[in-house]
Amino acid sequence: MSEKMQQLRETVAYIRKYVSAEAGTGIILGSGLGNLSNEIKVEIEIPYNDIPHFPVSTVKGHKGKLIFGELGGQKVWVMGGRFHFYEGYTAEQVAFPVRVMRLLGVHTLLLSNAAGGVNKAFKVGDLMIINDHISLFTVNPLLGKNEDELGTRFPDMSEPYNKGLIKKAKEIAAANKIEIHEGVYTGVTGPTFETRAEYKLISIVGGDVVGMSTVQETIAAIHCGMQVFAVSVVTDLGIREEENVITHEEVLQAAKDAEPKLTLLFTELVKSL
Ligand code: HPA
Repeated sequence: MSEKMQQLRETVAYIRKYVSAEAGTGIILGSGLGNLSNEIKVEIEIPYNDIPHFPVSTVKGHKGKLIFGELGGQKVWVMGGRFHFYEGYTAEQVAFPVRVMRLLGVHTLLLSNAAGGVNKAFKVGDLMIINDHISLFTVNPLLGKNEDELGTRFPDMSEPYNKGLIKKAKEIAAANKIEIHEGVYTGVTGPTFETRAEYKLISIVGGDVVGMSTVQETIAAIHCGMQVFAVSVVTDLGIREEENVITHEEVLQAAKDAEPKLTLLFTELVKSL
């Protein structure tokens, strides 16, 4: 067995010492969006730093634990806080928990993130269902020797975000009077926010929002055969008239304000699975 597979197996074996039950859904929550975990009937929480081979999150607003519990009547695995490339992890480390979830039996991955709006129709606090992405210089987590046990060398990426889940989410949003957009997420490495020229470039190439996560996790998930659903919370506007700057505090605050909508959407979506 390759070293990579060996590590994954060790991590899964460790987690399996605490949880033998199965969950088909995994959730990874974005910056300032960790409160969904309060809705979960927690059965067990395992701190990331106790889990062999797991990276440790360093970002303010992130809860560093893997949670197993019940949401909307379904068993779920939840990562309260994710690993970002800009923290210094490799793309493969960023993808590691996704693969762990897959080996634990997860087939549906729900992702949330905070993102900068570049579509002129978007306002701070809006939600956007991701229907496609553009990787703008993010490092592909599948670089290197392929793990055939996980997936194919050249995965198809024509539908990274599952159309059936998008349809369900739109129905849930409509039934709950949540205004929701649909569009393209542009993944960047960060940690700088974009220059004005970069936000403009992203808008020209077809991005609706831009953020520093999600793309690598989605690629890893598609590679190992999961279906993915992802939502961005628009926390700041990249294309704007004023001369204001963008701060991490403002991003976290906007995420916090919009979070109840996201929590409802995810809870109802999990219920419907
Ligand atoms: N750019 C990149 N990442 C982000 C942004 C942004 O404007 N807002 C939140 N995450």
